[in-house]
Amino acid sequence: MGTKAKRLVVANWKMNPKSDKEALALFKELAEGLKDLKEVDVVVCPSFLHIPAIVYSGKGRNLQLGAQNMFWEEKGAFTGEVSPAQLSGFGVKYVILGHSERRKIGETDEIIAKKVRAALDVGFTPILCIGETLDDRNSGEWSNRLNFQLRCGLENVRREEMGNVAILYEPFWAVGTSRACGAKEARETRLFAEDSIGGFYNDPNISKDINSLYGGSVTSKNAGSYVKEAGYNGLLVGGASLDPKEFIKIIKAVA
Ligand code: PGA
Repeated sequence: MGTKAKRLVVANWKMNPKSDKEALALFKELAEGLKDLKEVDVVVCPSFLHIPAIVYSGKGRNLQLGAQNMFWEEKGAFTGEVSPAQLSGFGVKYVILGHSERRKIGETDEIIAKKVRAALDVGFTPILCIGETLDDRNSGEWSNRLNFQLRCGLENVRREEMGNVAILYEPFWAVGTSRACGAKEARETRLFAEDSIGGFYNDPNISKDINSLYGGSVTSKNAGSYVKEAGYNGLLVGGASLDPKEFIKIIKAVA
């Protein structure tokens, strides 16, 4: 059975920056600024295109590399896709799956479930994203929505593998909006998600193995509250991860 990771903070650079040069400069500044930090696992998820330059630079061995997406097959005629094996060759260890920005352009729960399985098969930690729209939140439908996303996303995951999966709660309405979720709501949602997973595996003690992360308009001001008040084990940071000083402050706030 897997054990929960130490605190985990994931930088999701999305489709930024625009060149290898900028990506390397950002990565180097983070690596330098975090070189003495031992309490938190920091994962940087650049665009696929910038992963080789970062790896070949040999910098930042204190940071881990993740991908923002991947395909589920190992190789073959899949135009435009990137496989787990290709990423693994670059030392990638984590992969964000089912991000709200991908769900919005049509990625389905069925596709996400296949990717989660493929990630585990190659030895990655899948970061399974779940989240609800503002309408779902306001109407109370959020719990059904999250339960469904979790049930589908974890369909091919065995109980003993749960320690190798991270669950990211990122409310759609909080991603890239500066409208972060309050710690109380975030806590209630975490407990609900962990209870739901306990139900799927018929194991009420499963929460000790679940690596729960929060994402959505995280800043250095609110970062600590998700860990200390809402009980998450870590964060995923989008916009603020492109500002190295702010990102380092966020990491220190959860350490
Ligand atoms: P954001 O992105 O920090 O820019 O809101 C969060 C996310 O990608 O989930």
